Amino acid sequence: MLKVILYTSDAKLENVEIDILIDKARVKNKRLGITGFLVCHLNGFIQLIEGEEEAIDGLMNEISADDRHSNVRIKESSFAEQRKFPDWEMGLMTISDTEPYYNQSEGESLVEIFCKNVNGTLAEIA
Ligand SMILES: Cc1cc2nc3c(=O)[nH]c(=O)nc-3n(C[C@H](O)[C@H](O)[C@H](O)COP(=O)(O)O)c2cc1C
Repeated sequence: MLKVILYTSDAKLENVEIDILIDKARVKNKRLGITGFLVCHLNGFIQLIEGEEEAIDGLMNEISADDRHSNVRIKESSFAEQRKFPDWEMGLMTISDTEPYYNQSEGESLVEIFCKNVNGTLAEIA
């Protein structure tokens, strides 16, 4: 089983800092078998990470201890048979409105909404 964590953070980083961190993150994620997606917005980030439980717990500890983050909140933690973002060592996109990411219909998890929104944006720009 794979562990999936969706968390938010109020970190505010410049674009150039995000570019540097994502390059490093992709190398490390590849080594650890972690995939996922990082969504940036004006006031912070929403990120989904998925992989073996030990790798995900280890990365989440590092993220929580990273000074660039502030107010890290785990919104959802679950287990899954299949990866949601198998082709992404860490995808990256910027959004202006976070509201659709929290607009839950009954029985829908935040992970499901996150995937729906990210995949919708990816389809738009394809
Ligand atoms: C918004 C944000 C997202 C991050 N995402 C990842 C990630 O997906 N993978 C990763 O290895 N590190 C990520 N990091 C960096 C970690 O917090 C931490 O600095 C890093 O894992 C330490 O790696 P090291 O082994 O080089 O010390 C992220 C940091 C920030 C601020």
